[in-house]
Amino acid sequence: MPTLEQCIDDIALDHSLPLSPFSAGDNANVGFPDTTTVHSFEKSDSWSTSLSYTLYRVDGWGKPYFAVNPAGNISVRTHGQDTFPSQDIDLMDVVNKVTDPISDGGLGLCAPFIVRFPEILKHRLESLQSAFNSAVSSHGYGAHYQGVYPVKCNQDRFIVEDIVKFGKPFRFGLEAGSKTELLLAMHCLSKGSPDALLVCNGFKDAEYISLALLSRKLAFNTVVVFEQEEELDLVIELSRKLNVRPVVGVRAKLRTIHSGHFGSTSGEKGKFGLTTAQILRIVGKLGQEGMLNCLQLLHFHIGSQIPTTALVADSASEAAHIYCELVRLGASMRIIDVGGGLGIDYDGSKSSDSDLSVSYTLEEYAATIVGTLMSVCDQRSVKHPVISSESGRATVSHHPVLIFEVFSSSTNEQCNSAKSAPFPNVENFLDSLGEEAQADYKSLVAAACRGDNEACLHHADRLKQHTVLRFKQGGLTMEQLASVDDLHSMVSRAAGEPSSHVPMRTYRVNLSIFTSMPSYWGFGHLFPIMPIHHLDQRPTVRGVISDLTLDSDGKIATYIGGESSLPLHEMDRKKCGRYYLGMFLGGAYEEALGGLHNMLGDPNVVRLETDAGSPQGFVLTRLLPGPSCGDLLRSLHHEPKCMVEDFKRRAEELGVENGELSGFAAETLSGGLAQFFANWPYLVLT
Ligand SMILES: Cc1ncc(COP(=O)(O)O)c(C=O)c1O
Repeated sequence: MPTLEQCIDDIALDHSLPLSPFSAGDNANVGFPDTTTVHSFEKSDSWSTSLSYTLYRVDGWGKPYFAVNPAGNISVRTHGQDTFPSQDIDLMDVVNKVTDPISDGGLGLCAPFIVRFPEILKHRLESLQSAFNSAVSSHGYGAHYQGVYPVKCNQDRFIVEDIVKFGKPFRFGLEAGSKTELLLAMHCLSKGSPDALLVCNGFKDAEYISLALLSRKLAFNTVVVFEQEEELDLVIELSRKLNVRPVVGVRAKLRTIHSGHFGSTSGEKGKFGLTTAQILRIVGKLGQEGMLNCLQLLHFHIGSQIPTTALVADSASEAAHIYCELVRLGASMRIIDVGGGLGIDYDGSKSSDSDLSVSYTLEEYAATIVGTLMSVCDQRSVKHPVISSESGRATVSHHPVLIFEVFSSSTNEQCNSAKSAPFPNVENFLDSLGEEAQADYKSLVAAACRGDNEACLHHADRLKQHTVLRFKQGGLTMEQLASVDDLHSMVSRAAGEPSSHVPMRTYRVNLSIFTSMPSYWGFGHLFPIMPIHHLDQRPTVRGVISDLTLDSDGKIATYIGGESSLPLHEMDRKKCGRYYLGMFLGGAYEEALGGLHNMLGDPNVVRLETDAGSPQGFVLTRLLPGPSCGDLLRSLHHEPKCMVEDFKRRAEELGVENGELSGFAAETLSGGLAQFFANWPYLVLT
């Protein structure tokens, strides 16, 4: 009697089902749905780095900073399109430098780690400034652009310091949204341009306002932007008390609606900003107090990731009219601050259909704002205001790459028939299946003979369901259950969608999604994720990334392009060595939002710059180690020192009671335990 497996193979040979997928091994093509390019991948016999470049959409999201080099590794061009070929940094050279043992000249660190490229940050800032400069000069606009960086996007000291340093020549400033951020911004801006703006946004109490006013005493160019009407009385009272002439602004609640996820608080009913009536009352009161000349700035922010220039223009036009009205009402208006919203193309689609992309370039964004403000102001015969923006995402997203390592992979479906559980005698097995399952099996065979793939899938699903039920009732062995799982997988691969023709694996990575990709966890925000090496080789499997935490949310179920898995290379640590993946464009918000789930903590951080004099073309300029187990415990009010003492006492007591541990041994044990507090919380992969 043939086994169940042979039966199905016979069916396949009977040309009712495609044979090859049943034996889909490691060299099966990855199924790429939809596009014509995708089909050409399937057909091509050879593989090349340019196919990887297109497959992972690097041409869409990565330009001008990321590319695939001839060695099949990601290369980083820190000066964007101005990077000389000799300045390309091979990301695997960086990985080797970071992970090589100290004795070999490396840092001896483990992944995950963030590689920061401050030169990219500089390039982003300069590109933003130059886009506005060009728009100003091509339109003949009568004022300049002077941006601020909203520190909430990434408050890391060295990033904010870099932004202040790189932006000093063009008076780049900072935006704070809380007392702590204001302290940070003041300190960093003390090395910046004296004309740089320090914009104080957010809800404010007397302490926040006092600090902002005091910062003016320290000669910072601080503007207190009213988020609520109540803040006005505090400013009036405290500025008199502290004897400071304040500069204030109003945040207008625009009626323009940004309909994406990031615009959910926009519009008339939105959460933030002042209504028209509130602005009018503020103007009235400032006038009564003889302070109308303190009102100099109009701010609005309709949300992050504005998808189109049409929406940019709509909001800028509404705001420009409010600005002109404030001028008419007698305020000494000077600056219009258009907020954030300048978007990033995370999926490389250059479309306006999702929160993951935008349909414009930096230059188009700047030209839209400048053109719109100019047209309204000219219409109203109002002097052109200085333009500021609070572009956070567009400034810091590109500059870091998060690198993490796969530590194991497992099959979701049994792809390798050699590993399958032995099939039982089919007659006995069919007997034990029960009537319904037997009927399913027969229908499956019949459907396979007809070549009806849809029916095959249907009957295989039902067979599996009935078999599981039978197992739960104690009517089947584990081997029998595994056989039906295998049969189900084979049928799915043979009769299912093209993407199920390839092995599906779970790739377990040494990372916490909660800590390093909180926006994915929180609201499904996607980032480009891809292997950073082996890109000269065909990816032969599809993987779903699952993290180190023991949480069902700790996996990535959707990838850019809407795919539910990622084309990956076979991961066999023994044969192929380590396998590194990178997450790109995550420089804004992710680090600031990341939490302590499972107490894994922040990854290590290295910063590097290009250096023509060094063999690999770069130098590491700073290492910022992630927290140790002890640091993490301390951050949650545990006290490692006391914990070690307690372990020691316990060891000594046990030693006395049982005679098992001498005093010396107890000391050694607790000393050994103390060492664990200094350890790296992520897996140390050898
Ligand atoms: C008031 C304000 N300004 C600026 C930003 C930064 O926006 P983006 O990162 O889209 O530039 C935000 C973020 O939502 C914000 O709330």
